[in-house]
Amino acid sequence: MVFKNHTKQKMKQSKLLKIIPLILALLLGCKINKPFIGYSIQKTAFSEKAMVVSAHPLATQVGLDILRKGGNAIDAAIAVQLALAVTYPRAGNIGGGGFLVYRSAKGETATLDFREKAPAAAHRDLYLDEKGNVLLEKSQKGHLAAGIPGTIAGCVQMYEKYSKLKDFKRLVQPAIDLATNGFEITDREAKSLNNNQADFAKYSTISPVFVQKGGEMWQKGAILIQKELANTLTLVRDKGRAGFYEGETADKIVAEMQRGGGIITKTDLQKYQATWRKPLTGKYRGYDLVGMPPPSSGGIALFQLLGMVESYPLGSYGFHSKAATHLIIEAERRVYADRAEHLGDPDFYPVPTDKLLNANYLQKRMSDFDPNKATPSQAVKAGNFKNAPASEQTTHFSIIDAEGNAVAVTTTLNDNYGCRTVVGGAGFLLNNEMDDFSAKPGVPNMYGAIGGEANAIQAGKTMLSSMTPTIVTKNGKLFMVVGTPGGTTIITSVFQVITNVIDFNMSISEAVQAKRFHSQWLPDKVFIEKDCLENGTNMTLKTMGHHIEERGNLGAVEAILVRGDGKLEGAADIRGDDDARGF
Ligand code: GLY
Repeated sequence: MVFKNHTKQKMKQSKLLKIIPLILALLLGCKINKPFIGYSIQKTAFSEKAMVVSAHPLATQVGLDILRKGGNAIDAAIAVQLALAVTYPRAGNIGGGGFLVYRSAKGETATLDFREKAPAAAHRDLYLDEKGNVLLEKSQKGHLAAGIPGTIAGCVQMYEKYSKLKDFKRLVQPAIDLATNGFEITDREAKSLNNNQADFAKYSTISPVFVQKGGEMWQKGAILIQKELANTLTLVRDKGRAGFYEGETADKIVAEMQRGGGIITKTDLQKYQATWRKPLTGKYRGYDLVGMPPPSSGGIALFQLLGMVESYPLGSYGFHSKAATHLIIEAERRVYADRAEHLGDPDFYPVPTDKLLNANYLQKRMSDFDPNKATPSQAVKAGNFKNAPASEQTTHFSIIDAEGNAVAVTTTLNDNYGCRTVVGGAGFLLNNEMDDFSAKPGVPNMYGAIGGEANAIQAGKTMLSSMTPTIVTKNGKLFMVVGTPGGTTIITSVFQVITNVIDFNMSISEAVQAKRFHSQWLPDKVFIEKDCLENGTNMTLKTMGHHIEERGNLGAVEAILVRGDGKLEGAADIRGDDDARGF
């Protein structure tokens, strides 16, 4: 394994300074493509055979150990998912859900939907008061915000179908060890836990381990031991699915619901099943993509975006040029209008997938694109099909094993630490995924996303997601595994990483670390990371009618690229504590 981790370095303007990082990177053996986008190569791992990239170094290491012991990418994925539930409590989870996109070394593909579902007692008006106003606190914080968790069912189902080790206990044990023995928390995690102390106390009925006694603050390097979570994971290790959805853990979840006014019942838990879904496939400039179908909007929206820009010479416009940025924003506006209208759980709503991805349709959607002017979002409506029915915290990991099997998993509690409710005595946080439903047509959720009938609340239905775990191949060979957290910004971040590599000729490291922007139809704004666009581009876009607003980080991408020489290059995002390792 070669692991390089260099410090962040902002691009200097002088020509001389611009080429120093290039020379350094070349000396370090990295593949460099132009244009260089302003960062040294960092958080990058190069390996011959196998690679894990996740949001936490300890979880990455757990995955790598499983791979070294002969486990395949699915075995490693289960171990990483559970290790993240311990080491990355804000998003790694057993109280949430997610999506798996899988491609075997032989080219077989599969997707598993282990996202949360609405409890049987949920209904369309669950979060409305008597006047019909949306009660945002109820859909975002506390017991009523939680959907039925899917993560353990997902782990068990992917294990049953694809595990090579055939030793579930061995996959769960590293997480139990981390929870029992504790681990040092990072500065970011300490700050994040401190920011949520009041919420943990308010929305949990029994004070959880995350709440410091006597008003103390978490410090970097503090050891976080989670005995109750270790006990829950031990039940999962020994009883599999029944260790979570039945018996002691189920009793604790239901008791927590009853103490805090939630609605998840024992029957809800017993009935939960993850679902194998037909993978969504697409093409872009000679590359093939495998993505997550609904109930994620991620695959469809990503493929729509790629389809809308494909006939334009994005690469020759230049990275973050006025023309490229404007084109992408305008495509995003149209895609997110479709998302709001047409996307939801396909088991409850007839999502017009083929029509949304039809090449003529995508071309038609761009027919009113003006290269010199922003289209106001009010003027953009969702596409109409005749005869067709009508912080942001999540986490992603990418894995490639020594045989060439690839896994992209995006998993979430929705918001940072979900609904902030820790199940009393069981030590894990519940999601606030119910907020991803449309509580009322036209009323934005926490991501500013609106929706309608397609994503209305219904008992047993899965809320729409933006998670976009994606695998890219070229000529039948694995090329890229990619994904990110970030709510509705997930789709545009994944889009930018893919186009950064394919159109702007960047290495995967450059593509991941490059600054990003995001637009989603409503609100009619373009969110940019600090220093994302040069002043000139920024001013021009404003003059064209774009409403540009600076904000914090967009996503935390974990990606692996298979280079031309067959070696793996993993890139963990500098925006977090993320980590890439291989052997
Ligand atoms: N909860 C974020 C998403 O699924 O898109």
